[in-house]
Amino acid sequence: MKTIDQLYLANKRTFIRVDFNVPLKDGVITDATRITAALPTLKLARDRKARIVLASHLGRPKGKAKAEFSLAPVAKKLSEIFGQAVTLAPDCVGDEVERQVAALQPGQVLLLENLRFHAEEEANDEAFSKALARLADVYINDAFGTAHRAHASTAGMVPFVKECAAGLLMQRECEYLGKIVRSPQPPLVAILGGAKVSDKVAVIDNLLSIVDTLLIGGAMAYTFLKAQGVAVGNSLVEADRLDIAKQLLDQAKKSGKRLLLPVDHRVSSSPKGDAAVEVVGQSIPDGLLGVDIGPQTETLFAAEVAQARTVFWNGPMGIFEIAAFSHGTMAMVDALVQSSALTVVGGGDSVAALTQSGKAGKISHISTGGGASLEFLEGRKLPGIAALEA
Ligand code: 3PG
Repeated sequence: MKTIDQLYLANKRTFIRVDFNVPLKDGVITDATRITAALPTLKLARDRKARIVLASHLGRPKGKAKAEFSLAPVAKKLSEIFGQAVTLAPDCVGDEVERQVAALQPGQVLLLENLRFHAEEEANDEAFSKALARLADVYINDAFGTAHRAHASTAGMVPFVKECAAGLLMQRECEYLGKIVRSPQPPLVAILGGAKVSDKVAVIDNLLSIVDTLLIGGAMAYTFLKAQGVAVGNSLVEADRLDIAKQLLDQAKKSGKRLLLPVDHRVSSSPKGDAAVEVVGQSIPDGLLGVDIGPQTETLFAAEVAQARTVFWNGPMGIFEIAAFSHGTMAMVDALVQSSALTVVGGGDSVAALTQSGKAGKISHISTGGGASLEFLEGRKLPGIAALEA
């Protein structure tokens, strides 16, 4: 895959697809990680005197221009952290936008308005792809977080621009996630959590062919435990996923992979944090539901991480937004931070837990992709990456 540093950018209209799909609360960006993560590519483009056109989606406005999905807060934030004015275009295609792009001076930055204000973006429409391509002498895809979508700006426009390459973030994501799926230093330990087995079936299936040990926590563990005949009380269980959970457990056994489930739990009578929390063994009595892994499981999982040379983590171990249910997730943060292994973390909740801990800097790589990192680990070729390699 060609990368941005291999291209001559001086005075060229350099269209950079970024993923600035950041969380907003009342119009204020609550986490600017994805903007910061694009800075190395933006700095390189600026240093090489490119005329920079940035394009992103924000949220899911469903093809309509809606003020609450405007990239205006992003333009403001980016101006602050990039240290120069970033102009927001009134749209992402059309005559006025073409005029603004043509007027860009080397090193200047124009941020196009939300791509998803046009339904043609997600439809990967050819005419729309060509309209975007008209803004570009060079196309750079740095939007790893959106690389699992085959949209006009991530895939469709690529054949219509002469020179295309990956940005530095895209390159780094592929390098680190590639180390997990293609050439992990054994032992490789993967920790998966989160609420649903259904979201993770394909990733568990693929990970079972590459990991040495798979640790499963979070609510999805209760479906696996129930599939083994263990009592889970009132815990969240996906009844329609019990068969697949059983199949995955059998698959692990047959392939000689260790799949470890919680051996104890923190339980409560309510998931809201308004009732007492107690620790029970692997079986959960009726009337109580699991809200976090228990202390013995924390020790067991941390010991696995301590002897690993490669670790991948996605998904919290409990309802970590509630402090009383966050012990297990924070224990995984500590285990990864103390590990000397190559550590890679993906997924909004695990990344949020890491950020909350203030120790994110100790992790080898924190992926900016939630869905994209999971699809990468499923062993799939992401459309945004495939387009660059075609
Ligand atoms: C993400 O946040 O996962 C990406 O920006 C993709 O967003 P989407 O799920 O709305 O396509």
